[in-house]
Amino acid sequence: MKLFTAILATAAIAAFAAPAAADIFAENGCIGCHDATKKKMGPTWKDIAAKRAGDKAAIVHAIKEGSKGVYGKIPMPAQAKAAAHADALADAILAVK
Ligand code: HEC
Repeated sequence: MKLFTAILATAAIAAFAAPAAADIFAENGCIGCHDATKKKMGPTWKDIAAKRAGDKAAIVHAIKEGSKGVYGKIPMPAQAKAAAHADALADAILAVK
């Protein structure tokens, strides 16, 4: 039971820690197609972070120029409005575990 309580507490802390990163995705209009762990039209941040670990430049490039054929058939258009934040967005994606 103690262990269960500890797991719950850890989950609660993780849930409270998440918003800062989640906000940047909401502010830049990414969450309609992406979620940290739930597959939507686009791949999950988790899958992207795993595939692009150590390759932040590829993430920045995809945000600025768009991406197609890497994860499936649906392409992502260039995220023009988010281009100025591409660096911070890439950091936030790579931080998703
Ligand atoms: C209209 C839906 C849509 C929106 C809005 C969108 N994406 Fe995507 N995104 C996709 C799809 C679909 C893919 C998969 C493309 C592929 O297979 O190459 C993708 C792929 C990506 C990738 C992986 C690129 C790679 O080559 O590894 C990154 C990073 C990404 N998106 C970031 C973002 C960010 C940041 C935003 C918000 C600024 C955003 N996306 C908004 C649909 C979207």
